[in-house]
Amino acid sequence: MPPARSHPPEAPTIEAGRLRLRAFTPDDRPAYAAMRADPDVVRYLVGGEALIAFADEIAVSRINAFREAWRSGFGVWAVEETASGRFLGQVGLEQLEQAADVEVLYAFARHAWGRGYAREATRAALAFAFDDARLPRVVAFVVPQNTASSRVLEAVGFRSIGATTYNDFPVLGYAITAEEWTAARG
Ligand SMILES: CC(C)(COP(=O)(O)OP(=O)(O)OC[C@H]1O[C@@H](n2cnc3c(N)ncnc32)[C@H](O)[C@@H]1OP(=O)(O)O)[C@@H](O)C(=O)NCCC(=O)NCCS
Repeated sequence: MPPARSHPPEAPTIEAGRLRLRAFTPDDRPAYAAMRADPDVVRYLVGGEALIAFADEIAVSRINAFREAWRSGFGVWAVEETASGRFLGQVGLEQLEQAADVEVLYAFARHAWGRGYAREATRAALAFAFDDARLPRVVAFVVPQNTASSRVLEAVGFRSIGATTYNDFPVLGYAITAEEWTAARG
């Protein structure tokens, strides 16, 4: 008999104020692809607008990767509006390839901007990072023009660690340690 295929553990569902963080499923593909096909959303993401033509393929591969990554004990959630069940975007934690650090990442569909959803979701992801996954610190990288993203990070307690590079692009680095997170929560 062939060995049973082992499925990775699923992302835990987290209720966070107006939002629900839950596991990505293959059913999220159309909404995720639509988000990745919006120039306003991808402008400051790796690959930028050049990848819009491949939004559907990216949706398939990213959703698979997000589901697989939970083997490590942390990963990326789909974010939906609790009241409507509507898909809003992604938030979560991803291991950097070239460093020991874990980064927080988030992206929301344009219709979900300007409502405080990103900071609400990011706070929930950080609570999981420090309280459940017991990570010592979380980092983030933002291209300098992405001021909305820097505002999210500063609002949830990240501090600037200066200019650096990410995939050879100049970016601003941010970090928050478990101690800083605990202190910020009082
Ligand atoms: C980065 C991104 C998530 C920021 O979205 P955002 O809507 O500006 O951020 P928030 O959800 O935290 O909302 C904050 C805004 O909502 C407003 N707001 C309205 N109601 C609010 C509430 N109840 N609580 C907090 N803020 C509220 C705030 O005033 C703020 O607006 P301002 O920036 O004009 O002052 C979004 O621009 C995005 O998805 N970009 C594309 C992907 C991306 O660049 N990701 C980051 C890569 S590093």
